[in-house]
Formats: sequence, structure tokens, C-alpha cells
Amino acid sequence: MGAKLLYICVAFILVAYYIYSPIPENVGQPWKLMLTSAVLRTLGHMGKAAEMLGLANYMDVMKLFSSSQYVPPTSDENVAVTDTEFSGVAVRLFLPKKPTEGLRRAMLFFHGGGFCLGDAGMKSYDFLARRTSNQLNAVVVSVNYRLAPKYRFPVQFEDVFSASKFFLQSRVLSQYGVDPTRVCVAGDSAGGNLAAAVTQKLLEDSEVTNKPKAQALIYPVLQTLDMNLPSYEQNANMPILSKSLMIRFWSEYFTSDPSLREAMTSNRHVPAQWGHLFQFVNWSTLLPDRLKKDHVYTGPVFGSPALAEKYPGFLDPRAAPLLAAEAQLRGLPSTYILTCQHDVLRDDGFMYATRLRAVGVPVTHEHAEDGFHGALTFVTSPSDMAVGHRLMSSYLRWLEEHL
Ligand SMILES: *[C@@H]1O[C@H](CO)[C@@H](O)[C@H](O)[C@H]1NC(C)=O
Repeated sequence: MGAKLLYICVAFILVAYYIYSPIPENVGQPWKLMLTSAVLRTLGHMGKAAEMLGLANYMDVMKLFSSSQYVPPTSDENVAVTDTEFSGVAVRLFLPKKPTEGLRRAMLFFHGGGFCLGDAGMKSYDFLARRTSNQLNAVVVSVNYRLAPKYRFPVQFEDVFSASKFFLQSRVLSQYGVDPTRVCVAGDSAGGNLAAAVTQKLLEDSEVTNKPKAQALIYPVLQTLDMNLPSYEQNANMPILSKSLMIRFWSEYFTSDPSLREAMTSNRHVPAQWGHLFQFVNWSTLLPDRLKKDHVYTGPVFGSPALAEKYPGFLDPRAAPLLAAEAQLRGLPSTYILTCQHDVLRDDGFMYATRLRAVGVPVTHEHAEDGFHGALTFVTSPSDMAVGHRLMSSYLRWLEEHL
């Protein structure tokens, strides 16, 4: 009896120890975050084991998370939902049912998941798109671009770009009753990266006559050069997105070659000949002092040119929109950027906000002191959190006013 109880106690402590991850004090409902984080960590461990044993790819195991959250396209009393294709790219389409006098607004949305995971059909993304469509009376196109490791850069970018370009044609917009002057491009995390890159390229493309009115970037990942930003250092082991997972996502976007991942981990992946790009991610000038804390800017450490020759994608602004020169940023539409304090990607968003403002782009930058990576998608049970609902509401309010 005594031994049995002891075993139970030990098992309980082990489970509790496993589930427990330190959560910053100002994050409300920490258990909800801890549980989701434990599920992701378990998948991560399983993925690493499966990869070591040669049974499966790490990301294929991680994909179980997205697939477990999948909901089929289902219309409700307000919104008609269908899965279809735009110029060969899979999209989930949300059309408001309410009869309207004039033309509607529209949103092109790209989900997150580190270029490797995620789906427009995940419960939280479906919910967010439905809510956007309903509240703004807008057509929402949520793009299911192809994912790594099966498809690599620039496939993800090209998928979202061609679906966007297809939708922005006047005849297509008019078919859906959309006002060509009121289309927004948006996305979260890796989707925020794609949204920023697509918005830059749509501006440049002379074939595109209907340009987006706004872009909304939700904790976007925007740069590949500096993996030692204060936000990466301060939040290296935060739940949902650790520094090592972000580096894994980045490297999988370009290659399965572990040497890129290793070089990014030691922050020596950029050769000296590309040193001029570091001005665009110079956190000593682009970040507010309060975020720098006791971090001291030391400048870049360069690596061998071999990686950049083999995988030039990581220096391409279509992959890292923060590397675009001033001339490419000038004229970008009205921008919303959400950053979260406890997020490795916080400083990417801050630096983009600084650079856009410097060239006269109107920017609304919302920073959540109690936010963590992915917070805005914590809006469906069992992982709905007050912070998720608050961030979603203020994002939708911005869209109401600016789109
Ligand atoms: C970054 O900014 C600091 C301060 O202005 C400057 O001394 C440094 O040379 C810059 N580094 C790069 C790589 O642009």
C-alpha cells in the first residue's frame, strides 16, 4: 500500500514537472498556456526521437498538432464557408451572407506555423476568419499555401503571392462584390512574414492595379540575420516558440541541411560580403531603450560564404521583409503591427515599425506587455484566454477603422 502510494506520488511529480514550464508573472491563466505548451513539447520530443530512429521527419510529427485541430469548411447563419482554389492555390473562402447595398471589404489572410505547420482549417484560424468576415462584413480569403519540409522557399511566398494577385484582379473582386480600394493583407507569425513580403511585392508589381489599402502583421517573423536580438535572448525558452524552434523553422524554410541550422544557432551564418544588410536589423538604433535592458550591441560576427551561396534565400527580402531597402518600404499602405513582450519575435516587429515610420508609412503598433507568441489565436476552447480575446478585439477594431 505504502509503496503504491509512493509510486503514484513519484509519477504525479514527474508529470507535474513535465507539464510545468515557467510562465512570466504577468501572463493571466498560466495553466492554459502551460497545457498547450506541454502538448507542443511532447510532440517536439516525439518528433526528435522519430527523426533519430529514422521513422519520420520531425516536422511531420509536429504537424499532428495542426491536424488534430482541423475543422471542415462549415457555413453558419452569417458566413458561407468553402474550400476552393485561386490560380491553383488552395484557399478557404468566407463569404458574408448578409445582403449589402454597396461593395464589401476583403482580407487576404495567411496563417502561421513557421512555414512548416498550420492550416486555414485549424479551429482557431477558422474562428478568426469567420469573426473577421462577420464583424467587418468582409470577404476573407485564408490561403493554404504549401508547407516545408516538402516545399521550400520560395514556394510558400509564391503561393500566397499568386493567390493574392489572382484575387486582386478587378473582374474577380467584382465577382465577389468587393470594393477594390478596401482590401487588406494580414497574417500571424510566419503568415505575418508572408503578408509583409506580399505587400511589398504587390506595391512593386506594375501588373497589379488594385493595391492593398492596409496590412496587418500579427507578431510577424521578419528577419534571418540576427538570432541574438534582445528578444531572442530574453525569451529563448518561452512556451509555444523557443529560439531553437524558430531557428529550426527558419532553416527548414530553405533546406534540410543541418549546417544552416547550426550556423544560425551560433549566429554566424551571414558572410562579410552581405554585411551591409545588418544596418536593417541594427537593434542598437532601431529598438527603444527599454527593450535593450542590459544587452550590449556588439555588431555582427561573419561566417563562411558557403551557406549563403548554397541557400541565398535567407538573404532575400521575400523571405526576410525587414531586409528590404528604404525605397521598397516607401509607399507601403497603412500598417498594424502587434508585438508581444514574451516572444522571440518581438524585436522583429519593433524594428519594422521603426523602419516603416522613418519612411512615412502610417503605423499603428500595439504592444502587449502580457502577451506571448501565438496569444491572439488562444480564442477557442479549451485554450481560450482573456489575452487572446482582448488582442483579437483590438485587431478587429483597428480593421474596422482603417479598412
Ligand atoms: C549599428 O548602429 C550603431 C550605432 O549607431 C553603429 O555604431 C554601428 O556601426 C551600426 N552597425 C551596423 C552593422 O550597422
